Amino acid sequence: MKYRKFGNLDWEASVLGFGAMRLPHREGEYSAILEDKATAILHAAIDGGVNYIDTAQPYHRGESESFLGRALKDGYRDRVRVVTKLPCWSVEKRDDFDRYFDEQMEKLQFDHLDFYLLHALQRDWWDKMKDLGFLDWAERKMADGAITHIGFSFHDRLPLFKRIIDEYDNWTLAMVMCNYMDINYQAGIEGVKYAVDNGLAVVAMEPLRGGLLAKEPPSDIRSIFDSAQTGRTPAEWALRWLWDRSDISVVLSGMSTIEQLEQNLVSASEFEPDCMSDDEHELIRDVRSAYRSKALIPCTDCRYCMPCPQGVAIPWVFEYFNMASVYEDPDAAREQYAFLGEKNAASLCNACGKCEDLCPQHIGIIDALREAHALLSVPASDP
Ligand SMILES: NC(=O)c1ccc[n+]([C@@H]2O[C@H](COP(=O)([O-])OP(=O)(O)OC[C@H]3O[C@@H](n4cnc5c(N)ncnc54)[C@H](OP(=O)(O)O)[C@@H]3O)[C@@H](O)[C@H]2O)c1
Repeated sequence: MKYRKFGNLDWEASVLGFGAMRLPHREGEYSAILEDKATAILHAAIDGGVNYIDTAQPYHRGESESFLGRALKDGYRDRVRVVTKLPCWSVEKRDDFDRYFDEQMEKLQFDHLDFYLLHALQRDWWDKMKDLGFLDWAERKMADGAITHIGFSFHDRLPLFKRIIDEYDNWTLAMVMCNYMDINYQAGIEGVKYAVDNGLAVVAMEPLRGGLLAKEPPSDIRSIFDSAQTGRTPAEWALRWLWDRSDISVVLSGMSTIEQLEQNLVSASEFEPDCMSDDEHELIRDVRSAYRSKALIPCTDCRYCMPCPQGVAIPWVFEYFNMASVYEDPDAAREQYAFLGEKNAASLCNACGKCEDLCPQHIGIIDALREAHALLSVPASDP
């Protein structure tokens, strides 16, 4: 295992982190974690040098934290630093900070938490957290030792990412979606650089895009990978691209089998900053272009079309519609679409056409929304 400096802390994190969001579970029952299997994977990860564990209140429908509380007994807790997160979307009043935190600590059975993150920040939630006094609350918790450091995970766009960093001086880490496909998406690579320049550690989530970049690729992309001098699995290429970057402290992977863990431990011990040759960078650029060429809708997420008077989350609908064609995985796209909820669904479009007047790409939004809903509204199987 290799270790990297973690932002401004006098501590080095393992380059591979363990995400407790995709633990093995009974088929079709996301909350029914297979305790023995999941514990074996977690212990093997820690024995293999992983010292950074990530969980959150909603993972496995509330069971991930309880699982970690049990599985980190027998000395494992002392060998790792653990993250959990405040579910910002459910917080309504100031007292909720204590209520959620106390519940989470009870599940985890810890006497202190290493990192507490605001979960999945987007604009409205950040403003709400500030207005309710989250930062004062967190400062008090850090002063009395219940929380050691705070940070945030992020799912909005770059200007907000920079604003959140600028509006508080004591963040320790930012967790961002980062993989070779999403270099300009959400915080993107520019956000990674901004965070590092401001002294934050960056933790990359979804390095394999939730597994989409690890499965057998379509034949045109397979032949690009096959043209490389060294044979590697798609997962190895994706991880290699991330560890080549020195500005990412931890690559968090949600490994659901012991085989995946073992492969990622090998990659973590081999790949290091600047490990990629110019030819390899070229190869990844070719893979990215080939994937992107499969997108059905040329939406750039500029959001000029927003807000939709009917509430349709137009750029998000197109992102998931594209995801279905780009990765040939409609089920993964359907899962994401279901999270948008009925209030933002494409089916609410009443063809008023306001969005089409505003779209700089001249997308036929009304027809595209209809097609997207037809594909995405079919229920996905449980993860
Ligand atoms: N804060 C947030 O908003 C947020 C959002 C997303 C994730 N996260 C955190 O970030 C962590 C990482 O994200 P992620 O779970 O999406 O990570 P990921 O590494 O992109 O995807 C994990 C999936 O990739 C596949 N995989 C992993 N290693 C593999 C290998 N060597 N070979 C083949 N397939 C492999 C597995 O898919 P299969 O199970 O299908 O085989 C696994 O479930 C999560 O676990 C969670 O802790 C946080």
